[in-house]
Amino acid sequence: MAQLLAEPTGTAFLHDDASWWRQAVVYQIYPRSFADANGDGTGDLAGICARVDYLAGLGIDAVWLSPFYPSALADGGYDVADYRDVDPRIGTLDDFDALVAALHARGIRVIVDIVPNHTSNLHAWFQEALAAGRGSAARERYIFRDGTGPDGSLPPTDWVSMFGGPAWERVPDGQWYLHNFAVEQPDLNWANPEVRADFVTTLRFWADRGVDGFRIDVAHMLTKDLSEPLPSTAQLALIPKDGNHPLVDRDDVQEVYAEWREVFNSYDPPRTAVAEAWVNPARVPLYASPTSLGQAFNFDLLLADFDAGQFRDIITASLDLAARSGSSSTWVLSNHDVVRHATRYALSSPRTGGQHPDATPASAASAWLRSRGADPALDRERGERRARAATLLMLGLPGSAYLYQGEELGLHEVAEIPDEQRQDPTFFRTGGAEIGRDGCRVPLPWTPGGTSFGFGPGGAHLPQPAWFTDHAVALEDRDPDSTLSLYRRALALRHALRADERLTWIETGREDVLRFARPGGWEVVTNFGTQDYPLEPTADVVVSSSEFTGTLAGESTVWIAPEGPS
Ligand code: NOJ
Repeated sequence: MAQLLAEPTGTAFLHDDASWWRQAVVYQIYPRSFADANGDGTGDLAGICARVDYLAGLGIDAVWLSPFYPSALADGGYDVADYRDVDPRIGTLDDFDALVAALHARGIRVIVDIVPNHTSNLHAWFQEALAAGRGSAARERYIFRDGTGPDGSLPPTDWVSMFGGPAWERVPDGQWYLHNFAVEQPDLNWANPEVRADFVTTLRFWADRGVDGFRIDVAHMLTKDLSEPLPSTAQLALIPKDGNHPLVDRDDVQEVYAEWREVFNSYDPPRTAVAEAWVNPARVPLYASPTSLGQAFNFDLLLADFDAGQFRDIITASLDLAARSGSSSTWVLSNHDVVRHATRYALSSPRTGGQHPDATPASAASAWLRSRGADPALDRERGERRARAATLLMLGLPGSAYLYQGEELGLHEVAEIPDEQRQDPTFFRTGGAEIGRDGCRVPLPWTPGGTSFGFGPGGAHLPQPAWFTDHAVALEDRDPDSTLSLYRRALALRHALRADERLTWIETGREDVLRFARPGGWEVVTNFGTQDYPLEPTADVVVSSSEFTGTLAGESTVWIAPEGPS
């Protein structure tokens, strides 16, 4: 049903079903760590179903479910053994249908993760490829090659996997297969029509079950030119990433998405998709175009420091890029792959008087993780204050905002996970040099105490720290100043900002203060500095990331309602 939102300057914007995604707030659920109904220590679909009221109360438009498919969990579920089923530890297809129905009943749409670059090594196809042997049709679904060296005992190339270590693994008959990620994640051969056809079947399988959209994992890596001789890593580094690189962001991957687009558009409303594509910004529009996936993740804010100049440049460039794509921008501050933003902002950085003059937020965060949270010390309060300010700014932007479970509680990264309890392949494949991503995947605290902080009646599959007590949903729920209350208030008000996708910068006379106007005269002001910023006494501040006392305190954001009755 189309909903007409009045646009006060005289035009109108149809926020209809087909364009719901353009300014949606999408909440990412990492199913194994959200809520556990059956008490086995792993979150499940029934656990999510039991928390649908919580999700509806948050005011989100959609949930994105990270993989819940059968998996040996070599990479947190991104090693999929069967694309058209549910992992028995997480539930059943009936549970999935029940969850979709419960979410839809509350007006929340559902996005699922599609992982097309690689399968699990336990996928029936890979098992068949191993059994069928060299030269078989089954091996043609993957990327098998003979080794080098006199007896083929050396890998075909010196390529390194994203998780560290060689990107090739040898099988018992002597051939090698390519895995750009974990050993347990063999890359598929997208030159094979059978592979293409099977993913269309998978997309239809979930779309027919009522799924509204898809998040496409490593969307830029599917197609490859593996003609001989294969280049070395050093040679690869010299090849421009202009659409003809042998391994990434090839123009021909768009043929895959053109076919998918036909599938998406065969539904009413059309199914949506968002690309996880780590590509040169100039090439993002290829993925975000309406003839391709339609939207692409923009990770620039996530990589930025808490800094006015960086935020302004990124916002301006991202809106421009989205407009050129015929899409809307996406914004992300946290997800299941990065150190939570409350923690990133609590670490020293160049512009915040920290101890590491050359540190980028990402390198500061990994140095901190490597020190198991000890060095440099974390200013937790400051991190949360800045995270609230950055989030409130982000929620005021046109485009769609992707939230990651637990950020609405102001959760920090958990650094204090004992090595023997870590799960992320990054940790193991780098011999512990990189700590990995477990710290943002620790099961959520629902209650301040009790078994696994209310996550479920059993334990939690990753250890929860004592400080989770302070972030429990049950506590934040009744505290009007909590981060949870801030998110709820902002999301409730955000509907007024969605009348159109315009943003106009307002000069503030301060380099560390950003101010912009949105439709109807709404304004968002963020003070990235530490000195107060006085606001006009008439400013009708309706939501504030810190206590508002008539002046905008340092490291804070406010939303100002239009003049007159609102
Ligand atoms: C990106 C996902 O977000 C990440 O969690 C995963 O490890 C890789 N793709 C490989 O699938």
